[in-house]
Order: sequence, then structure tokens, then C-alpha cells
Amino acid sequence: MNYNFSDRINELKPSAIREILKVTQNPSVISFAAGNPSVETFPAAEMAEIAQDLFTNRAGAALQYGVTEGYTPLREITAARLRDKYSIGSPNDDLIIVSGGQQGMDLSAKAFLNENDTIICENPSFIGSLNCFRSYKANLVGVPLQFDGMDMDKLEETLKTEKNVKLIYVIPTFQNPTGRVMSLEKRKKLLELASRYDVMIIEDNPYFELRYSGEYVPAIKSLDTEGRVIYVGSYSKILSPGIRLGFVCAPKVVMGKLVVGKQVTDVHTNLFFQMLAHDFLSRYNLEEHIEKIRALYRSKRDAMISAMEKSFGEMMNFEKPDGGLFIWCGLPEEYDGAELCKISGQKGVAAVPGSSFLVNDRDVSPYVRFNFSLPTYEQIDKGISLFADALREYLGR
Ligand SMILES: Cc1ncc(COP(=O)(O)O)c(C=O)c1O
Repeated sequence: MNYNFSDRINELKPSAIREILKVTQNPSVISFAAGNPSVETFPAAEMAEIAQDLFTNRAGAALQYGVTEGYTPLREITAARLRDKYSIGSPNDDLIIVSGGQQGMDLSAKAFLNENDTIICENPSFIGSLNCFRSYKANLVGVPLQFDGMDMDKLEETLKTEKNVKLIYVIPTFQNPTGRVMSLEKRKKLLELASRYDVMIIEDNPYFELRYSGEYVPAIKSLDTEGRVIYVGSYSKILSPGIRLGFVCAPKVVMGKLVVGKQVTDVHTNLFFQMLAHDFLSRYNLEEHIEKIRALYRSKRDAMISAMEKSFGEMMNFEKPDGGLFIWCGLPEEYDGAELCKISGQKGVAAVPGSSFLVNDRDVSPYVRFNFSLPTYEQIDKGISLFADALREYLGR
């Protein structure tokens, strides 16, 4: 049978990370490749208690169809927390629940991008979003990411020269893959440029509450006075990713379009888990829960950084992130992180080559991304030491 697939799907390649994760199915491989939270952070006992109550006392509601915008009490509790704690969201905005932050990007792309419209992305950026934008046959243009966020001069040049620029996609806080944070000055500059060139911004912010050091930097959305920011958040990293709960806060007019887009995609997000998350947030102390996650990840970050200090020496640079789940490591420009990861794979340790996150994924990158939330402390020590063996072999030292 010759299947006649669409150009849209034919042009999409399986994510390199998914391919690497296949290797990590082998239990003897130590994986720093996935971006998964630690299983220890899932509030499973509390969720079990709520689930029992939902099935016993409220099954009629929890197992019924719901509205596309989401379960109202969860929308309200989410919107109130964002507004009161972080000044995110104005009276002109609405907040809906989506099936993971990933769906927020998909709905925004669906609402704004015609074929060949331009979306500007940080380079490197989150592969799930890049693939989402590719699936709309958009023109993806990468702007280099500096230590303090997107290069604003290059962004302005791009805004001047590219046609039909509709969206700028950024992960300003603990960026995936780099862990970097966009400075406040650049956040303001980004808003100013977006306003001058009349472009919408997608602010993807799933990691900002996982801060282990340094000072909080306000969300771009909280600085927006024009209704130019679509804010995408997620419960994946602070509750659990398997429940697939994210949220979008955007101007009401924009939200109308996202909601019709969602209606034809999945009608609504899983109602049982929306109710479960709402009950968790209203019965338990989310702030204490996040504080526990932070303590765990802070210690894992520090463990991986010490292991790198000890084993990598001068061979490879690593950036100590103030939060998030990743450590971004780089070799001088002439090297190839993908070659290095191939050698490390043979030694039983997996990490993701930087090229996987490039807007043009045929480019070579001397970087490698390491995740520290999922591996155990023992795996961190052993895996980083094995990776150092791979480095010695690759660099011929
Ligand atoms: C930057 C970024 N955005 C969005 C997502 C999607 O998260 P979810 O769909 O689980 O909310 C991820 C997941 O790893 C991510 O790293």
C-alpha cells in the first residue's frame, strides 16, 4: 500500500531526542537525555486520595464532557495565583486550560501562522515547539541566544528584513536547552521591538518556578501593556507531566481563536485530571510542594556541577544554571557535540547534542545538553565520569 501523506507530516522528522531515548531504554545506559522531572516530586499519595474521592463522590462530573476552556475552578485558581503572585494577566486577558504547554504553542501557531509566515525563535530552542511551528509549514528564523537572552540587535535586523513576521517565540526563564535567563532589560527591549514591528510574542514559561539561586525576573507578560503576549504555562514540572495540564493566558480576542482551535483538536483537556489538580491546589500547599522540588533539584544541580568540575576539568565548559532542569556544556566552535554524544553512547551514557535544538537542525553545534532532575546521585557521578572518558577519546587527550 502506498500511503499518500501530507507534505506537512512528511517534512517532520522524529525528534532526535525521542531517537536518543530509544537507546536509553537499555537499563544499563545512564541517561542525561530526557527532560523528565524526578518521580519523587509527584504528589502521588495526595492524588490517590483525591482520585478516590472523585470516583466515589463526583464521577458524574469527572467522567462527563466538559467545556473547551477548561474546568472553571481550575482556571480560576490558576489565574488568581498568576495574577496575585506574579502580576501575570490583566482584565483584558482570559486563561484557559490546555493539554500541556505544548498545546499552547500548537494553538498559538494554528491561530497566527499561515504557510510561509515567519516565526522568530531563539537559536537554540525547545525542539517540541520548533517541530510544532514546522508542522504549520512556517518560516522559522533563528536569532542567536546570548547568556542574557536573545541577541536584540540581531532580532531587530531580522524584524527589518524578514517578511510576514507574525510571532516571536521565547523561553525567557531557564531556557530549554541552555538554562539561561533573559535579562529584564532585554525583556523590555523585546516588548518595544515587538510593538514597533507589530508582532505577537509567545512567552513559554514552564520552568520559572524551579529557581535554585539568583533573583526572580518578572515575566514578559507582566510588563506587557498592549496585549501582545501569549503566555504559556504548565503544571508538568510542578505537579506531573503525565497529567498533561498546561494553561494559556492571552488577550480575550486572541483566546477566542485559540478556543475554536482547541475545540477541533481535543474538545477539552482531560476533565478528571483538571478536577484532580484543582483539588490538589485547593487542599494542599502548592508553595511548600514547589519548595521541596526546588530543594531536591538544587542539590542535584550542585551534584552534577561538582561532578563536571571534577571530571571535565578544562576539557569542556559548563554553565551553572540558576534553575530549570538542564546544564548546557560547550566545546570550542570547531567541535561537534553529536560526534561526542555518539562516543558517550557507546560508553553507556546518553546526553543530547546541541544540534537537535537548532532552528536549522542540519547545522553543527559544539554543545551538549545534560538533564540533572531524573538521574540518581550515583548515576550523576558515574555518568559524568564516563562522559569524561568519552571527552578524552573525542579530543584525543
Ligand atoms: C520549553 C518547554 N516548553 C514546553 C514544554 C512542554 O511541556 P508540557 O506540554 O508538558 O507542559 C516543555 C517540555 O519539556 C519545554 O521544555
